Amino acid sequence: MLTVPAPATCVPHLLGLLGRSPVAFVDVPLPHPHGGFHAKVEYLSPGGMKARAAVAMLRAARLRGELRPGATVVESTSGTLGLGLAFAGQALGHPVVLVVDRELERSMRALLTAYGAAVEKVEQPHPVGGWQQARLDRLHEVLARIPGAYWPDQYHNPDNVTGYCTLAEELTAQVEAVDVLVCSVGTGGHSAGLARALRRHWPGMRLVGVDTVGSTIFGQPARPRLMRGLGSSIFPRNVDYAAFDEVHWVGPVEAVDTCRRLARSAFVTGGWSTGAVARVAAWISRMQPGARVVTIFPDGPHRYLDSIFDDAYCATHGLLAPAPGHPIEIPYPDAVEVTRWSRCRTVLDPLRSLAVPA
Ligand SMILES: Cc1ncc(COP(=O)(O)O)c(C=O)c1O
Repeated sequence: MLTVPAPATCVPHLLGLLGRSPVAFVDVPLPHPHGGFHAKVEYLSPGGMKARAAVAMLRAARLRGELRPGATVVESTSGTLGLGLAFAGQALGHPVVLVVDRELERSMRALLTAYGAAVEKVEQPHPVGGWQQARLDRLHEVLARIPGAYWPDQYHNPDNVTGYCTLAEELTAQVEAVDVLVCSVGTGGHSAGLARALRRHWPGMRLVGVDTVGSTIFGQPARPRLMRGLGSSIFPRNVDYAAFDEVHWVGPVEAVDTCRRLARSAFVTGGWSTGAVARVAAWISRMQPGARVVTIFPDGPHRYLDSIFDDAYCATHGLLAPAPGHPIEIPYPDAVEVTRWSRCRTVLDPLRSLAVPA
């Protein structure tokens, strides 16, 4: 007989809904057969993975007196942190203004508005810093016009990193061990926070970073990017370069193929970052039989119905081409410009040129 666990008890406060996401075992071919990996399915926690960071950043700012009760929170976001801040703002009593750009999915913009956030839309990318820099420029204008407004600054705020201690605590109770942790990297928050906390339990744990082609984070040149959530056109200081053992850059063709395979056969799926980490986690589990590989699926599929899961969108962007099953190896992060799935076992902080032995 099929049994399901008893539901969680009634929570007296919105914050009680945060976290406690399930872990799924994924062993469907992606695209090759592999031993399987564990994925923490963060879209089954309200607001997705980044709600943890949002709550942590606002709470810490409240404690330091930087965020006054009832004051407005302003942030630049490509979506997921916005959802998290909408949740945190309601839970902690703060209006939220989100600076987004034209590329943000309509469904996500509608959702943010429905949850009560005010949305400011940027129409043109910055000529050098892309959408991210354009959003930051607008953010400063908004901050200047709202008295007492607080900017969490997710890219450089250490509370974004410590916010993932709950995720680490949950994982330690949910999986037997973690030999390899595979994390997407955008602000660097969850990879840094999880690596720090999980290595207290499993000191030999390897950390694999997953970025997108065209992102500067690990030393590649900035290029226009289709994949959002992971990747950046700036150098977020929350990225803990010394914590990584290797980095993979994944392209949109591989991410689309993986998200669709996951949706068809594993039911749990998600967006660009989910496709990218699942591809890499499956490959590692194939290459290292017996290794306990764990990854985080940051969000769910719904906001990607008009992109990743839309045939016309994918055909227009050439995303239905055969996706490589293995990465190309490169010796240094800037050895060549990568345009498809690639792997490098030397991790460098591009701003410090600090070599970290693999
Ligand atoms: C959907 C999604 N995946 C992955 C990431 C990367 O996570 P982090 O910012 O903790 O590096 C983000 C960050 O915004 C995201 O929105």
